[in-house]
Amino acid sequence: MSQVNDLSAPLDTQDDTQDGTQDAQAQPLLSVDGLTVSFKAGRKDWITVVKGIDYTVGRGEVLGIVGESGCGKSVSSFSILRLHNERTTKYGGSIRFAGRNVFDMSNRELLDLRGGDIGFIFQNPMSSLNPLMTVGSQLRETVRAHRRGLGKDEIEQRCLSALRKAGADTPEEWMGKYPYQFSGGQLQRVVIGMALINEPKLLIADEPTTALDVTIQMQLLKVLRHLRDELGMSIILISHDMGVVAQTCDRVAVMYRGRIVETASAARLFSDPQHPYTKALLSATPPLDGPEPKRLKTVADSMAEIEAAYREQEHKEA
Ligand SMILES: Nc1ncnc2c1ncn2[C@@H]1O[C@H](COP(=O)(O)OP(=O)(O)OP(=O)(O)O)[C@@H](O)[C@H]1O
Ligand SMILES: [Mg+2]
Repeated sequence: MSQVNDLSAPLDTQDDTQDGTQDAQAQPLLSVDGLTVSFKAGRKDWITVVKGIDYTVGRGEVLGIVGESGCGKSVSSFSILRLHNERTTKYGGSIRFAGRNVFDMSNRELLDLRGGDIGFIFQNPMSSLNPLMTVGSQLRETVRAHRRGLGKDEIEQRCLSALRKAGADTPEEWMGKYPYQFSGGQLQRVVIGMALINEPKLLIADEPTTALDVTIQMQLLKVLRHLRDELGMSIILISHDMGVVAQTCDRVAVMYRGRIVETASAARLFSDPQHPYTKALLSATPPLDGPEPKRLKTVADSMAEIEAAYREQEHKEA
């Protein structure tokens, strides 16, 4: 079946010349090559959940990563900061950030990278906040860990400015509050503020808006776009929401079962998807405007044949 080849050979249909990202790609800030991630499953067995992915993120570029639940979006992104437990995780391939392979970095260098040059917004805001400390104490601590030698006033100004950039209306007040005193949308802003407090070169946002209502979602996306435009920050935006991706990203990588099956500029992906899985994913998304259909096609409706081909391919590789 020809689809087997489609799945094993990712399509790269990016039309960089049209959207001006060619320069950004010339010297990418981040370059992921042949990344594999396997977890220990039992005494001797390992299960590979990321099966050799390649992508780049240029300076000032927003890359979207989409794909169904469990396809490896979070696992692959956590690997950029080597956040998995290394006793039960095996990595393969390379991840170069500003030219340096993170798999060659010492623990000290990794600590500097996390929350320094790379900011991470987790799927669940509470996973990066301590419920027992005020937001102010947590922000100050994050600055001190990476910017030794800054005075008290400078630290305070940096915290207030990060909260303001993340869309906080009363940052002075927010500094004195505990996480439980915030709404979901406000907490997500705190977490964004924390992720950008040290002016990272790369911000990784893992489903930053999923739990939020549409109005707050739109405000947060505006914040992200502003950060890119004002600070030239590169962003990886992981999302299930095709509307969010269409409005925010320059390029999009589509993941399916641990592989990237298509990479294209956002404009191209939405107007002319090439890979059967991308087509299925888009046809399972409610239209961005107009009435919602009674029943959306599921990916499984369109993919039964490709699923079978994929299993055959995996069987051959095993
Ligand atoms: N620490 C772990 N040990 C073993 N398996 C894991 C671990 N973390 C994730 N997995 C598995 O790896 C696969 C990919 O998970 P991942 O969290 O990357 O999915 P995702 O694409 O982010 O999904 P979602 O959209 O639901 O967040 C899943 O099958 C998951 O069960
Ligand atoms: Mg995830």
